[in-house]
Amino acid sequence: MHAHGPGRCRAYTGGMTRLLVVHHSPTLPTRGIADAVLAGARLDEIEGVEVIERAALEATVDDVLGADGYILGTTANFGYISGALKHFFDTTFNATHEATKKRPFSYWIHGGYDTTGAEIAMKSITTGYGWSLVTEPLIFTGEVDEQYVQLAAELGSTVAATLMK
Ligand SMILES: Cc1cc2nc3c(=O)[nH]c(=O)nc-3n(C[C@H](O)[C@H](O)[C@H](O)COP(=O)(O)O)c2cc1C
Repeated sequence: MHAHGPGRCRAYTGGMTRLLVVHHSPTLPTRGIADAVLAGARLDEIEGVEVIERAALEATVDDVLGADGYILGTTANFGYISGALKHFFDTTFNATHEATKKRPFSYWIHGGYDTTGAEIAMKSITTGYGWSLVTEPLIFTGEVDEQYVQLAAELGSTVAATLMK
């Protein structure tokens, strides 16, 4: 965090917009993707945006309703999104989709070899929420190298920047 003058320092979140990052990142490399997305979203240049991270199994309806935009992240598992992110969708959809329509979002998917089923699932579920895709999702397989870490940071900062007032 950089130092603020007394007039700008906020002890509460009034006036801030909120970006919710909900993800399932069960391995060290995928944790690296999540960390890069969060770091990109929290760049100092992006002012007035509070970034909140939730593990997919812990995110709540209130987390979704209280946010202005979303980034979702998942591994590909058994030809689908992770059970954890599916659980997030299952437990929040009914209570949130009407109130959160059109809010900006994007997502990442990491797989070992084939993300087709996960991609189809993410598209159809997020179409159901009615959220607006503000930047191309990051979808890839294999090694999480520096190039992908950089793309993950850009994903984070691009979505966060749409929430700047
Ligand atoms: C039970 C299980 C099922 C998986 N199924 C798929 C799959 O259907 N498609 C795919 O591309 N990767 C699949 N994977 C690979 C994971 O997506 C991959 O391990 C994850 O993204 C983490 O990446 P890492 O192993 O490089 O850390 C599976 C992994 C596990 C443990």
